[in-house]
Amino acid sequence: MANLPEDLERLRLAAHSQIAAAQDPTALEQLRVALLGKKGTLTATLRGLGSLPPTERAQAGERANAVKKELEEAIAARAAALEEARRAGLAEQEWLDITFIPQDEGYGHLHPITLIMREIRAVFSHIGYTVAVGPEVEDEWHNFEALNIPAGHPARDDMDSFYVGSGALLLRTHTSPVQIRYMEQHQPPIRIIAPGRVYRRDYDATHLPQFHQVEGLCVDSDIRLSDLKGTLEYFARSIFGAERRIRLTGDHFPFTEPSVGVAVSCGICGGAGCSSCKRGWLEILGAGMVHPQVLRNGGIDPARYSGFAFGMGPDRIAMLKYNLPDIRSIVEPDVRFLRQF
Ligand code: DAH
Repeated sequence: MANLPEDLERLRLAAHSQIAAAQDPTALEQLRVALLGKKGTLTATLRGLGSLPPTERAQAGERANAVKKELEEAIAARAAALEEARRAGLAEQEWLDITFIPQDEGYGHLHPITLIMREIRAVFSHIGYTVAVGPEVEDEWHNFEALNIPAGHPARDDMDSFYVGSGALLLRTHTSPVQIRYMEQHQPPIRIIAPGRVYRRDYDATHLPQFHQVEGLCVDSDIRLSDLKGTLEYFARSIFGAERRIRLTGDHFPFTEPSVGVAVSCGICGGAGCSSCKRGWLEILGAGMVHPQVLRNGGIDPARYSGFAFGMGPDRIAMLKYNLPDIRSIVEPDVRFLRQF
C-alpha cells in the first residue's frame, strides 16, 4: 500500500466514468456492489488504511470516506436520471390524445335488408306472432304438393326452381312450405311469421336468384278475411306510415281460397296516381284464406279451424320504402350505396 491516495484517485475517476456509462438500473446496481459492496474495490481500499503509518491514516481515512460518499451520491443521481428517462420513454409510447375526434367513416352498419327484416319481425311480434323457420333445401311435397301445386301445375313454371342432386330436392322457391312444416308440429292457435331466403332461376332489375320472403300464418277457430285485412293494414301502416291505406284485389294462389293481392297507397300521391306509382297503388304482398286441403295436409281439421296466410318480399318492400330503382343494388357491395341507410 505504497501509494493509497493515488490508488484512491484512480479508482474514483474510473468509477465516475463507469457510473455514467451504466444504461439501466440492473447494471447500475451491479456496479454499486462491485465498488461499495462488502467485497467491493473501494471497501478493500478502505481496509488497506489499517496498514498505513498512524500519521497518514487519519487524513487518508477522511479522504477515502469522502470518495465513498461522493460515489454513493453519483450512483443515486445516475439512478434518478435513468428513472426519469424511462418515464419520458413511456410518455412517448403511451400517450393518449384526449382531444382526438374519430371520424365515423370507419363504422359499419346494418344492411337495408337486415333493417327491413328486423322491422317486420318487430311489427308482428307486437301482435303476438312468433318466428318459425324451415329448411332452405326442401322436398317437393312441402314446397309444392302440400300447397296444392301438383306436378304439371302452371304455378311451378312461375317458380323456375334450382333442383339439388338427382332432383328429389330443391332450393325452396318460397317460404310457404314453412306453413306446412309448422302445422305438422303444432295445433291451433297458430300465429307465426317465417322469414328467410328463397331461390329462383331469375336475374334482372326486379328479380334476384336468391331473395327473401316473410311468410305469415294465423290459424284459429273463426278466423276471417276481415282479420287478415286488419292485420295487414296494421302492418302496412307500421312500415310505411300511419296515413297509408291498403287495398285488397282478387288474385290467385293454389294454397289460398279466396286469394288476394295487397297493395298499399302511394306515399307521394296518396292513391290518386302519379309518375312514381303509375296507378296510385303499390303491390306489396299476396295473401288469402288458407285452403281447406292445405290445412288438412298440415294435420289440421278444416271443419274446426280456419286461417289466413300471407307472403311478402322484404327486398321489394325495401325498394318501395327506400325508393330503389334497381333491386340488384341490394346485393352489390357498393358502400356508397349501402352507406345511405
Ligand atoms: N308463396 C307465394 C309466392 O312466393 C307468396 C304467397 C302468396 C304466400 C299468398 C302466401 C299467400 O302465404 O297466402 O309467390
